[in-house]
Amino acid sequence: MALIQELDTGTPIRLAPLQVALTIDGRQVSVPAGTSVMAAAATMGTQVPKLCATDSLEAFGSCRLCLVEIEGRRGTPASCTTPAEEGMVVRTQTPKLARLRRGVMELYISDHPLTCLTCSANGDCELQDMAGAVGLRDVRYGEGGANHRDAPTDESNPYFTFESSKCIVCSRCVRACEEVQGTFALTIEGRGFASRVSPGGTDFFGSECVSCGACVQACPTATLNENSVIRMGKAEHSVITTCAYCGVGCAFKAEMQGEQLVRMVPSKHGRANEGHSCVKGRFAYGYATHKDRITKPMIRERITDPWREVSWEEAIGRAASEFRRIQATYGVDAIGGLTSSRCTNEETYLVQKLIRAAFGNNNVDTCARVCHSPTGYGLNATLGTSAGTQDFASVGEADVILLIGANPTDGHPVFGSRLKKRLREGARLIVADPRRIDLVKSPHVGAEHHLALRPGSNVALLNALSHVVVTEGLVDEAYIRERCDLDAFEAWARFIADPRNAPETSENVTGVPAAEVRAAARLYATGGNAAIYYGLGVTEHSQGSTTVMAMANLAMATGNIGRRGVGINPLRGQNNVQGSCDMGSFPHELPGYRHVSGDAAREIFEKLWGVGLRDDPGLRIPNMLDEAVQGRFKGIYVQGEDPAQSDPDTQHVTAGLLAMECVVVQDLFLNETAKYAHVFLPGSSFLEKDGTFTNAERRISPVRKVMSPLSGHADWQITMMLSDALGYPMRYDHPSQIMDEIAATTPSFAGVSYEKLERLGSIQWPCNDAAPAGTPIMHVDRFVRGLGRFMITEFIPTDERTGARFPLLLTTGRILSQYNVGAQTRRTENSRWHAEDVLEIHPFDAESRGVVDGDLVALESRSGAISLKAAISDRMQPGVVYTTFHHAKTGANVITTDYSDWATNCPEYKVTAVQVRRTNRPSDWQARFYEEDFSLTRIADRLDAAE
Ligand code: SF4
Ligand code: SF4
Ligand code: SF4
Ligand code: FES
Repeated sequence: MALIQELDTGTPIRLAPLQVALTIDGRQVSVPAGTSVMAAAATMGTQVPKLCATDSLEAFGSCRLCLVEIEGRRGTPASCTTPAEEGMVVRTQTPKLARLRRGVMELYISDHPLTCLTCSANGDCELQDMAGAVGLRDVRYGEGGANHRDAPTDESNPYFTFESSKCIVCSRCVRACEEVQGTFALTIEGRGFASRVSPGGTDFFGSECVSCGACVQACPTATLNENSVIRMGKAEHSVITTCAYCGVGCAFKAEMQGEQLVRMVPSKHGRANEGHSCVKGRFAYGYATHKDRITKPMIRERITDPWREVSWEEAIGRAASEFRRIQATYGVDAIGGLTSSRCTNEETYLVQKLIRAAFGNNNVDTCARVCHSPTGYGLNATLGTSAGTQDFASVGEADVILLIGANPTDGHPVFGSRLKKRLREGARLIVADPRRIDLVKSPHVGAEHHLALRPGSNVALLNALSHVVVTEGLVDEAYIRERCDLDAFEAWARFIADPRNAPETSENVTGVPAAEVRAAARLYATGGNAAIYYGLGVTEHSQGSTTVMAMANLAMATGNIGRRGVGINPLRGQNNVQGSCDMGSFPHELPGYRHVSGDAAREIFEKLWGVGLRDDPGLRIPNMLDEAVQGRFKGIYVQGEDPAQSDPDTQHVTAGLLAMECVVVQDLFLNETAKYAHVFLPGSSFLEKDGTFTNAERRISPVRKVMSPLSGHADWQITMMLSDALGYPMRYDHPSQIMDEIAATTPSFAGVSYEKLERLGSIQWPCNDAAPAGTPIMHVDRFVRGLGRFMITEFIPTDERTGARFPLLLTTGRILSQYNVGAQTRRTENSRWHAEDVLEIHPFDAESRGVVDGDLVALESRSGAISLKAAISDRMQPGVVYTTFHHAKTGANVITTDYSDWATNCPEYKVTAVQVRRTNRPSDWQARFYEEDFSLTRIADRLDAAE
């Protein structure tokens, strides 16, 4: 294995249909019109010397190193800024050019520290390469003159260093921050000789920088360099793999020294990210080798006992014998399991297989239950498939973007950068969110309409938007006649045209002025290609599924599904939440979303697995916990999930876990759920195994092993061991064989194989005979269900109401630097940006409670109370407060309720009636959390009470 080198064409290759043919150094080449001479030369293998150009950025033309001669033209134009033209004859190497280039390089080197042998970029420095390429042998200018060799070094960022003495002021970093990331954190200060790169006059850590790494990636010298490279030196081989954080699914080169990870470099060939990254995937991988990793299996009799390290055989044997004992005592349905949306498709497939074939029931569920299950339900009911309709690149052709309940610059940052780029190109944005998220107003982009609705009123708002479309004659009638179920449309049109859905009526519920809603609806319906992107602010409501259907209605009514630039796109939370749903992690569905009661689908698996399968749906997570509290559900296998922290109403969750006789947790760390476990099986990180993840655009991407599992086994192997011990042996030597089985049983994966993934890089399902290379855009000529079905979406307010006791509404979300329950990111330097969860509160609400910024406040709901610091923010609307849930010690889910989506049980995380008041002490729950012997004292008390 070697380091993977990706070709840098210097400037982007254009996508124009018209080709132009030219001659470069005597060879003919043909490129799309608009492509630069430099990029044209690169496509035929000729690298024109360059410094200020790199193909992730538009040409800049400042270094003058890329000069060429063109027949019939005077002078020596810069090849990076000169478009290739039909019939052009170009020479890239002549004595004159060589002389000019050496002169340029001499000037650069005369103001550059000559410490190459000890420089961290030695061997990976474009300046060094160019000195070699132009044959620089001598620098005539002495070292005595004015120079920048003493310029200061900025080490404030935990992940990279800015050694400005090495800066050649090529501006690649500044342009990367603008063009790729869209943050505009960097500027060139000063003029001429005095010009220097600056992160806004402060240091990097104190600036607007979000540590995406784009500037580090773009820098041709060691000026901006990863601290890990400075510490460890250059990698010797690299492997392409997929980020294990969010549903964007960025491809990275894991650059290695043996089994040590040196750095993660975003891959230009990753279709989801095209060479970009965010602070999590790029830098926050240190958790994988953190000292907190548990690498030995452990067991204990009672959860108040200390853990005891044991062999794999003993731990697996204990789990299996306990599960069988429980089933013999309490019945076959008394156990179940949770698959992980952090694990691979292959691992998830095996866990549901274990439960269905070895446990003998359908008691399997996944964390998608608590995030995007309404997406599956709503899109399936209206369009016929449980997934987003577009690829990410499609946003580049959107004219109007309706963003609902999502905050991509924090939650899905690389997609957020794509979106900002499209907005800078002129697309128009409508944001529907209770909070003023960054995209409402950030450098060079902003929302034309911010519909700052009250939490819980999504359906009323979407109905109002559709009401305007229908009553103002903005419906795409031809599209509906051709593509949709007309009876369903007519019934829906009558419903939606009713005055109860008019913006003037719903204004009282949503709080959004009717005129604003009308203007936004007109823009969505008439502004060209209109695309909807949404997140958990849509799904995590008691009407989550209704909201998804309401979006589908709006998109169908305006003809905005089935081509590039339009569609309905869930921004999925976890890296493999799409995959875990696809793989049959729900209690009512086999892989490929086929209901367990369907004989034909069940028979496929029965034949292959050699067992009879149950045709009745099993228990969902909340039902498993309810049944546990009732004494009927006694054992659970939890792979890579932490329901004790992530699920709503923590006290109910822990009561359920506490009531079980065998909780088996398979994870990297002793998480909150492990406090209630009897068997702990050490899991493996994404760096330690092969497999695939499926991202939010249905893209199946390879995950590749770069180091041995610290515990000795990958997660798929652990599930196999457990299955063997339960008397249902599984025989796979490699995850590719599991994928072959998935392909053989699941129509949308029929054409997927590791060989094809190796060849194509990634594949969007459906992938089958009709679409052997996958399907970037769904529902192109017809909907998957045949005719698109409009659904009646009556607005029904949540039962969670504000009142005198709990007058405010709490809504929750994420922040860029942390990830979900924080198990990974809290074990990295990312915590320097977000060390604790805080409560954002509007100045009016704060003042009326005597709360000032930084005060400790008690946050109380009907479910419980926690305390955290207040952050006064006019991002909030009065009456609404907001927090994140990244830190276990905050216990945000202690206060969320058990209300959930009517169709899927997805919890209503986004709406909790609360009160806020000043306090001077932690809540009772937190006080117990902080007790040193938290897990023993508290649990022992509760066990005693239970007995
Ligand atoms: S790390 Fe990203 S956000 Fe920060 S300065 Fe560099 S490009 Fe800009
Ligand atoms: S820091 Fe690097 S990319 Fe930025 S101007 Fe200096 S040399 Fe160029
Ligand atoms: S955007 Fe998501 S997938 Fe991409 S690097 Fe960041 S966390 Fe990873
Ligand atoms: S690479 Fe063309 S001017 Fe710098």
